[in-house]
Order: sequence, then structure tokens, then C-alpha cells
Amino acid sequence: MKVEDVKVVGVLGAGTMGAGIAQVCAMAGFEVVLRDIEDRFLERGLNNIRKSLEKFAAKGKLSEDVETIMGRIKPTTKLEDLADVDLVIEAIIENMEVKKETFRQLNEIVKREDAIFASNTSTLSITEMAAVTRKPENFVGIHFMNPVPVMKGVEIVRGLLTSDETLEFAVEFTKKLGKEPVVCRDSPGFISNRILMPWINEGIWVLYEGVATKEEIDRGMRLFTNVPMGPLELADLIGLDICLAAIETLHRELGDKYRPCPLLKQMVQAGLLGRKTGRGFYDYTQK
Ligand code: 3HC
Repeated sequence: MKVEDVKVVGVLGAGTMGAGIAQVCAMAGFEVVLRDIEDRFLERGLNNIRKSLEKFAAKGKLSEDVETIMGRIKPTTKLEDLADVDLVIEAIIENMEVKKETFRQLNEIVKREDAIFASNTSTLSITEMAAVTRKPENFVGIHFMNPVPVMKGVEIVRGLLTSDETLEFAVEFTKKLGKEPVVCRDSPGFISNRILMPWINEGIWVLYEGVATKEEIDRGMRLFTNVPMGPLELADLIGLDICLAAIETLHRELGDKYRPCPLLKQMVQAGLLGRKTGRGFYDYTQK
């Protein structure tokens, strides 16, 4: 399949990443079918898309009006509504069994024989997901960075059976979205989270051991390494549940050096997931 052949993109999951992916696809002129399991998740996702588009519009960074772009996104709770998509990008919960079950169902639903199936997973195996699809050679990882509308980098992950054509398609498609693709092969955490998640986890260990306050850890790392965010504020942006799932995968697959900090586990158990729930390492409820 060629990028020019793509008219409709199916996006699974209207959470932080799924909504961002739907937004950038719609901004690039694609029709989008955005599916989540409950209406309230779709409403929240569409609200976030609108807010982000309004930010761009206020700065004169949109070539079309907000409503035209919003009009390209069709929200639905029915997986069957993805029957006519050319490309599916999955951004649902980071659970291998749930993802595989969803792709199994899509095998029966998506009509186009040469449709491309992609996953935005942050750490899970592209090869394993591909194995349950009808054409593993048409499966690829397209891993966006948060916040999707702003971040240029996208990781393109080649599964064991991903074809050269599918890899090329993913590279060209993400360029069409205005992104800069970086290619790697399937391996736990790919490039991005293999390196980023231990950095975040280590920041949490440093806090847990009382080496410094959270503010000093973040301010320090911003100053010492010139990154826009320190590890704890970045964990709040990404979502602590996502960080924990990622570091647990790395721990399971690559060994003890990736052991999750107990404080991270406890914060997830307490529902302190970061910006999306209003509280994580910092409090966002007053802002
Ligand atoms: N939509 C539209 N515009 C947005 C936006 C959104 N969702 N979020 C931020 N912006 C805009 C702001 O309006 C602002 O625009 P301006 O410069 O024209 O005024 C600009 O982006 C910068 O935002 P802020 O002034 O609020 O704050 P910062 O300068 O700190 O930038 C940031 C915010 C872009 C998030 C920056 O802090 C950053 O790059 N942080 C690091 C992000 C990062 O590392 N992401 C990767 C995480 S890893 C990942 O996602 C992988 C996954 O698998 C876990």
C-alpha cells in the first residue's frame, strides 16, 4: 500500500496518545474513525483534541479552521465501524492479551486485504502482536511521543516479519503527518523507552531514597542535561501507569537493572497517575 492510497485511518483508543494520533491524522487531511469502549472516553478525547487545535489556531498555526479538522474525526464505540479503514493505529491499554484479542477481531472486520495494522505500544513486542494478524508482513510499530501534536519524533518499529514495503509505508506516512521517523527493530522498549524509562525510574529511586526533593531532582536534571523536563515532571506528563507498565516490561524482559521503584508502584496503586488524574508527583488541580 502507498500513502496516497490512504483515505481513512482507524485509531483505537481515545486516551492521551490515541487522541493525539487522531488529531495529527485529521490535521494532515485524513478521515479518522476514532474508537474507544465508552462514550465518556471519546468525549474526553475529543475535548482534548479541540483544546489542542484551539491552541494552534490562536497562534495562527492551522491552515484550516478547527471545525473542519474536527469534522474529519468520527467517534465510535463499535469496532465494526473500522470495516472501511486503510490503516489502523492501535493505542489502547498496554496489555498484550487485550491488544492481541483486538487485532484478532480486526482480522475479521477490516475489509481491505492489504490494510496496514500498526501499534503505538511503548514497550510490547510488535512481532508477538503481528503473529495474530492475517498478514504479519503488513504489521508495524508506529510509536508516537507525548504530546503527539507537538513532538516531532516517531519511532518506526520493524517486527521480525514486517516487510520492507510496510516499513517504507510507515516512514512515508509519518512524514506526511509532519513527523520525523526514526527506524529500529523490535526489542523491548525500542530505542526511546529502553533509555528513557530507566532514567525516569532512577529519578523516582533518588526521590525514594531521600537524596533530594522532587523539585531539586527536576530542576537539577533540567539544568545539568538541558532537557525540557526532569524525570518526575516528565513521568507526570506521560502517566505513571504507563511508566510502570513500561519499566515492568523492561524488568521482565531484560533483567534486574530495570527493577521498578516501590514508590512508583504505590503511586499507581493510589491512583496518582500524573496530569491526567490531576495529581502525580505534583498537584495539577489548581492550575
Ligand atoms: N497541543 C498543542 N500545543 C501544545 C500542546 C498540545 N497538546 N502541548 C504544548 N503545546 C505548545 C504550547 O502551547 C507551547 O506553544 P508556544 O511555544 O507556541 O507558546 C509549546 O507547545 C510549549 O509548551 P509550554 O510553553 O506549555 O511548555 P514547554 O515549553 O515546557 O513545552 C513540552 C512543553 C513540549 C511538553 C516540553 O516540555 C517537552 O518537550 N517535554 C518533554 C516531552 C517528552 O519528552 N515527551 C516524550 C515522552 S516519552 C513518550 O511519549 C513515549 C511513551 O511511550 C511513554
